[in-house]
Amino acid sequence: MFDVYTTSLLSSGCLQFRNFILLIKIFMGVIDTSSLCSLKCNTNFHQFVVPDRFFFSFEGNKRRVIAMASSMPLDQQVNQGQQGLTGDSFIRQHLRKLSPYQPILPFEVLSIKLGRKPEDIIKIDANENPYGPPPEASNMQHHTPFLIQALGQLKFPYIYPDPESRRLRDALSKDSGLESNHILVGCGADELIDLIMRCVLDPGDKIVDCPPTFTMYEFDAAVNGAHVIKVPRKSDFSLNVELIADAVEREKPKCIFLTSPNNPDGSIINEQDLFKILEMPILVVLDEAYIEFSGLESKMKWVKKHDNLIVLRTFSKRAGLAGLRVGYGAFPLSIIEYLWRAKQPYNVSVAAEVAACAALQNATYLENVKEMLIQERERLFKLLKEIPFLNPYPSYSNFILCEVTSGKNAKKLKNLVIEKVHQSLGGGEKSVFWGRSNSPLHVVIRNKYGLQKDVWDSNVGTGAVEDLAKMGVMIRHYDKKELKGYVRVSVGKPEHTNALMKCLKSLS
Ligand SMILES: Cc1ncc(COP(=O)(O)O)c(C=O)c1O
Repeated sequence: MFDVYTTSLLSSGCLQFRNFILLIKIFMGVIDTSSLCSLKCNTNFHQFVVPDRFFFSFEGNKRRVIAMASSMPLDQQVNQGQQGLTGDSFIRQHLRKLSPYQPILPFEVLSIKLGRKPEDIIKIDANENPYGPPPEASNMQHHTPFLIQALGQLKFPYIYPDPESRRLRDALSKDSGLESNHILVGCGADELIDLIMRCVLDPGDKIVDCPPTFTMYEFDAAVNGAHVIKVPRKSDFSLNVELIADAVEREKPKCIFLTSPNNPDGSIINEQDLFKILEMPILVVLDEAYIEFSGLESKMKWVKKHDNLIVLRTFSKRAGLAGLRVGYGAFPLSIIEYLWRAKQPYNVSVAAEVAACAALQNATYLENVKEMLIQERERLFKLLKEIPFLNPYPSYSNFILCEVTSGKNAKKLKNLVIEKVHQSLGGGEKSVFWGRSNSPLHVVIRNKYGLQKDVWDSNVGTGAVEDLAKMGVMIRHYDKKELKGYVRVSVGKPEHTNALMKCLKSLS
């Protein structure tokens, strides 16, 4: 009568006896299951609410709820007393609509999943800098890893860090040429994006986002209860300044997030466009996470001239410190004052501050790494161009976006998708129209009754990405809207490029 899952839950003690009895009652029809409200859970978690009577749940070790839904409005639940309340009743309304966070797999877990040692995985999917921080201190007799040496010198790790990160801000001031009172440091640029929104946006305020771009702006806006006005980039990924101006006039958004070089395509914003946007009545947040790879100078100093400009940067890319989480921003004095008031006092750990200062002391190392990555980007671009089913975009960053256009593998998958959709339309006579300048990624399928469906064949990209992952090469695949069927490859070391090319060639 009970399936293997129930039996194993019982034997592992996850299912308590009380709940077991309840299950038996359900199976025997004593309790009408239609009165149970099933909550949305991850695949391993099951929870039911029996109105007015029981509340129980069972879950295995380390499993967690990713989304819950209550069918009853909060006031009704409150009226019905404590029994009817579930945890989500306390969550802010706008957050209940937020899509569950999709966690990335930690490197070690990925290694187990792929059955490969971490050092045998070529991870070029998250724009990390594979060279990491300076490996050795040049003046050391016994080549101690640089970071270990810096962290080993921590005198007071048991004392809270400097809430003003003075040492690091002074070093950043020398590095950028901007006075330290304009600089604030955060737990990654990610923290600063959220902090800016928390200081600037009231619930219901609007921001302008220019997709395709870094998705954290949209995510943080949702967390902060703001609306996102999307002004998509043009087909060459440049900004559509006229449409931005229209949106600013019509929607009165508070701020706009601009990324240069842009993630995921690597294009830069030209200065004329930036000037035009700076003249609009809007706070401009210019994200320069990848500026080092562009050959352009950072606009950090511009914050002294423009009271509506914030410039964000990070140690994740330039210094290979993504795991230590250090980002920084340049702000007009009239804005930074409020960020100081709202930020968490100890947002940058002593380890992160020491690591970032140590990286800045090794300017030559940072410069060499940057040059190696730029050279490798150019080599990678040429090699990707030779792959028949990839169309790479020129990049000013440490990654290259590619459109997946055609190829043996892609064609096979594409035909499969067309057949499936045709069947779902009722079969019969079929006509197929190619969209987007004959791109095999977009097809319109129509049956004889005139029913039609657009198909964005994202599987083209997925197929290639999954095949690569099996070979231990991780690249980023897009399956949403503008970038359906595109992939992004981060620039790694020459040996990473060689391994990627070997795999790609075996797929073509
Ligand atoms: C455009 C952009 N900004 C900010 C970040 C996040 O930087 P951090 O690692 O400092 O949080 C990223 C990370 O990929 C990014 O692509």
